Amino acid sequence: MYDIAVIGGGPGGYAAALFAHNFGLSVALIEKDRIGGTCLLRGCIPAKALIQSGEVFATVKSAAEFGVVTSDPTFDWPVALERKTKVVEGLVNGLAGLLKTRSVDMIDGFGSLAGDGKVNVTHDDGSTTEIEARAIIIATGSAPSTIPGYEINGTTIVSSDEALDWDAQPSRVAIIGAGVIGCEFASFLADVGTEVHIFEVQDQLVPGMEPEAEKVLSRAFRRKGIKMHLGVGVGQPTTSETSVVIPVGDETVEVDTVLVAVGRQPMTESINLDAIGVSSDRGFISVDRATMQTSASSVYAVGDIVAGTPQLAHVAFAEAIAAVTHIATGETAAVDYNAVPMVVYTHPEIAWVGRTEAAALADGFSVETTEHGMRGVGRAIIQGQTGGTVKIVSETDGQLLGATVAGPGAGEMIHELMYAVGFEALPQEAAAFIHAHPTISEAIGEALMASAGRALH
Ligand code: NAI
Repeated sequence: MYDIAVIGGGPGGYAAALFAHNFGLSVALIEKDRIGGTCLLRGCIPAKALIQSGEVFATVKSAAEFGVVTSDPTFDWPVALERKTKVVEGLVNGLAGLLKTRSVDMIDGFGSLAGDGKVNVTHDDGSTTEIEARAIIIATGSAPSTIPGYEINGTTIVSSDEALDWDAQPSRVAIIGAGVIGCEFASFLADVGTEVHIFEVQDQLVPGMEPEAEKVLSRAFRRKGIKMHLGVGVGQPTTSETSVVIPVGDETVEVDTVLVAVGRQPMTESINLDAIGVSSDRGFISVDRATMQTSASSVYAVGDIVAGTPQLAHVAFAEAIAAVTHIATGETAAVDYNAVPMVVYTHPEIAWVGRTEAAALADGFSVETTEHGMRGVGRAIIQGQTGGTVKIVSETDGQLLGATVAGPGAGEMIHELMYAVGFEALPQEAAAFIHAHPTISEAIGEALMASAGRALH
C-alpha cells in the first residue's frame, strides 16, 4: 500500500511525487506516455524553445541598426526543431533521474479509479495491475479542443501538438483563436517569415488581457505583418490535400495549414470518476480550494482538470504542493489564485498578476489605475524596444490589486509585482523601494510612484 498514487506525470503529477519526498511518503506515479506532460512534451518548454529561436532570428535581422553587420540571415527550421527537441530531451531525462533519486515508483500504463484507495493500471500489452494507496491524486491534464468543421487531421488542420513538430516551415498559416497559444504561435511564425492570419471571435487579442497591453501587442503584430481578424467567426473550411480555404464574412482566406487554438479540454473522460463519486462538470473536477480534495475526500485533483482555475504549469505545481501538504499533515497550503503570474511569450512579452481593472471592478472594488509607458525609459531606448507599458491597478486609497507589464522581459519583471500584489502592499509601500538605473524595471517603479500619488518623470 502506497501513501499516494498519482495518476498523470505532468507538472501537477510529478510535482506531487517530488514534493511527497519532504514528508517521507511513498508514491506510485502512473503515466501512460513519457514523464513530463503537456508542459515538457507538447507545451511550455518546446514552444518557448522555438520562440527563443525566433527571437534570436529577429535580433539578428535588426542587427544593422546597432552597428552590427551581418549577411542576410535565414531561418533554418530543422535546426531550430532539433534544438527544441534537445532542450525537451534534456529536461525529460533530468526529471526522470530526479524522480528516481526521490524513490518514486514509476508505473507505465493508463490509470483509472477502481474504488476507495484503488487505482487500476492498464499496461500497453493489455495486462492490468491494481495499486492501493491511502490517497489518490488525479493529475491527468488536458488536450487541445477543436470546433466543428476544424477536426484535427494532423496535416492541413492541426493543434499545437502537431505544430510543435512541423518538419518544414509552413509558408501560410491561419490560426483560429487569439488566446495565449494562438498569439504565441502567431508571433513566432511571423518573426521567422511565415504569412500569418489570426481569427478571434472576441474583439481583442488574448481576451481578458488589459486593453493597454493588448494595444502594445496588436501594434507589434501589425508591424510583423500578421493579419488580425478580430470579432469574427470562421465559416466551414474547404480542404484540399495541400490547402485550406476559410470563409470569413464575404471573403475567403487561403492557407497551407490551419492551427486550431480554441482552448484545452480536461482529460478525465475514461478514468472512471464515478467509481468513488468524484463530481465533475464537463470533465472539470471541482475541489475544495484549500486542500484540493474532490467530493471523495481521499481523492485530490490538481492541474488543468481543476474547475475554475488557470490551466498553467506553475498553478499545477502549487496545487500539487497544497494537495500533498494536506495528505501528509492535514494542514492547508492553499494556492493564492489572486497572485498567479501569467506570461504570454509573444515578442514583445506580456505578463500580468492579480486582477485586471475590469476584473477588479467586477469583483466590486473601487479602483484606481496608473500607466507608465516605456518610450522615455533609458534602457528600453538602448535596447530599441520602447513600445511597452506598465499598468497598475489598486483599490482606491488601498492595496495593490493587480499589474500588467507589456514589453521586453515582461515575463521576468512581473515577479516583483507578484510579491507586491501577493503581500497586499499599498502603492506607497511598494514605491518606496528603488529600482536600479538604467533598467526596464524602472517603468514599474515609475508606475508605482504614480499610484502612490507622487510621479517622478
Ligand atoms: P485560450 O482559452 O487562452 O484561448 C482560446 C481563444 O480562442 C479565446 O480567445 C476564444 O475566444 C477563441 N475562440 C474560441 N472559439 C473560437 C472560434 N470558433 N473562432 C475564433 N476564436 C475562437 O486557449 P488556448 O490559447 O488554446 O490555451 C489553452 C490553455 O493553455 C490556456 O488556459 C492557457 O492559459 C494555457 N497556456 C498558457 C501558456 C502560457 O502561460 N504562456 C502558453 C500556452 C497555453
